[in-house]
Amino acid sequence: MELFLKSLTLPGLTIPGNLLLAPLAGYSDAAFRSICTQWGSNLCYTEMVSAQGIIRNNAKTLELLRRADNETLFAVQIFASDPQSAASAVRMLGVHRPDLFDLNCGCSVPKVLKSGCGAALLREPERIRTILRAMGGETDRPITVKLRSGWDQNSINFLQTAEAAQRGGAAMLCLHPRTRTQGFSGQAQMSHLKTLKSYSAVPVIGSGDLFTPEATRSMFRASGCDGVMFARGALGNPFIFRATWELLSGKRQSPPPTPKERLETALQQLRLTVTFKGEQRGCKDMRKHFCYYSKGIPGAAELRAQAVRAESVEDYQNLVERFL
Ligand SMILES: Cc1cc2nc3c(=O)[nH]c(=O)nc-3n(C[C@H](O)[C@H](O)[C@H](O)COP(=O)(O)O)c2cc1C
Repeated sequence: MELFLKSLTLPGLTIPGNLLLAPLAGYSDAAFRSICTQWGSNLCYTEMVSAQGIIRNNAKTLELLRRADNETLFAVQIFASDPQSAASAVRMLGVHRPDLFDLNCGCSVPKVLKSGCGAALLREPERIRTILRAMGGETDRPITVKLRSGWDQNSINFLQTAEAAQRGGAAMLCLHPRTRTQGFSGQAQMSHLKTLKSYSAVPVIGSGDLFTPEATRSMFRASGCDGVMFARGALGNPFIFRATWELLSGKRQSPPPTPKERLETALQQLRLTVTFKGEQRGCKDMRKHFCYYSKGIPGAAELRAQAVRAESVEDYQNLVERFL
């Protein structure tokens, strides 16, 4: 029996397992993190949070810092372009008592790149180091870093950025082994992950194309990574945490969730979303999740078409009841 499941030991923090939820802007809010935790995620990252937004007390930014009741560990990812703003953000985040911070060095959205944040940092490894040092000066909590393989095909430099991150005090590294120019196209390069693992002195988490428990096992096998992070594969499918845990622990596999279970989980997430964001915003924000939950359910196209117009919890409940 291959042993892939384990806890992750960071300075001052033990993460009880190694199946994590990736930061997902627009998706990994408190409600979704709560549902993923319920299905076995060992740690869920918040969506990326702007350091500038925190400093300016921007209401929309601060809303991203809600924490779900069942989140025993709270991991906040920030994006920043310089040491001063990153340090200020970490200091101000202290009141939210995060257990862990993460620095985003992978986002390839033009607006984020233009401000020198996200994947833009991959071009300046030394800046990654100084930002992490500055963050570390403001907290005793571990700081992790999420990297891509490099800026483009001609500048694959994950070993350099990872090394700089470790010199800056990074307690764990996550690699999405694609370049910034690749975005989400092509395949995640397992060989990059394997190379990083063989050089890294801190735990390495793999991200990329984890859509099934089997793909996750393949990533563990191919790279020797210490843990994995589900992203698109968890959208509408928080069940992937349990299924992966079962596969990797050699337990009998539970049957896949029925359409009823999937839609009921969606409704559960909806109710949580509404408690955090109110009914109007919550119902609107839930539409995209609802589409993911109903994906692949035979005959659900009409359900999806109606869900994008749902405006109240009752609307959603009626839709599901009629469908089932
Ligand atoms: C909608 C969406 C939002 C994302 N938001 C973030 C983010 O806020 N921070 C980050 O570091 N990565 C973000 N990512 C990247 C994911 O965390 C992950 O590394 C990437 O999707 C690769 O994993 P996958 O192929 O299994 O989806 C995002 C990806 C998607 C699809």
